[in-house]
Amino acid sequence: MDPAAVQRRVDRLPAGLQAHIHRVVEIARELAVCHGINQEQAALAALAHDVARAMTDGELLRRAAGMGLPIGVVDRRVPILLHGPVGAEILQQEAGLTDISIYKAVYWHTTANPDLDELGKVVFIADKLDPAKIDSYPYLPQIRQMAFQDLDRAILHFLTRQAMDRLNRGELVHPVMVETRNALLAASGVPANPTGAVE
Ligand SMILES: [Fe+2]
Ligand SMILES: [Fe+2]
Repeated sequence: MDPAAVQRRVDRLPAGLQAHIHRVVEIARELAVCHGINQEQAALAALAHDVARAMTDGELLRRAAGMGLPIGVVDRRVPILLHGPVGAEILQQEAGLTDISIYKAVYWHTTANPDLDELGKVVFIADKLDPAKIDSYPYLPQIRQMAFQDLDRAILHFLTRQAMDRLNRGELVHPVMVETRNALLAASGVPANPTGAVE
């Protein structure tokens, strides 16, 4: 995939979204250096991650259906969640994306996924660490500190806080977000059921 082709797509996005994307690129570069992963690949994935973020709900649902992407009950109610999958498909079909790692990073950047590799984890958490998101995520400074030490721990904490906030507000929680949290929690060695309660 030609970075210039991705840049041209980004240049057509709303100014506020472009500014977010450029902040995410910088954070992704810093995290890539810190964790010893390919900096250029991380920057390109971050540059590409929100190519479909400006689409309307109707457009996202239409494109996702046309692309044969799975549309779950939560996606149908909150179609903006489809901007990762639709963006990944657009990059593959229209911008020559063949790097499966970047494809998955873009696809899962909103919910995360248990199968994300290091690049995908960097893009996921870099997107959340945009300082402009502090109002949505007041716990962002702690997550940032964790992200430079342990990506899994940062993602686990972020997903836990997100799931709690959403449940408290009576909102939908995407099943893949819960699956990812379960996978990270299970891998972290925390006791599964400390109280022993099963009912
Ligand atoms: Fe996004
Ligand atoms: Fe984003």
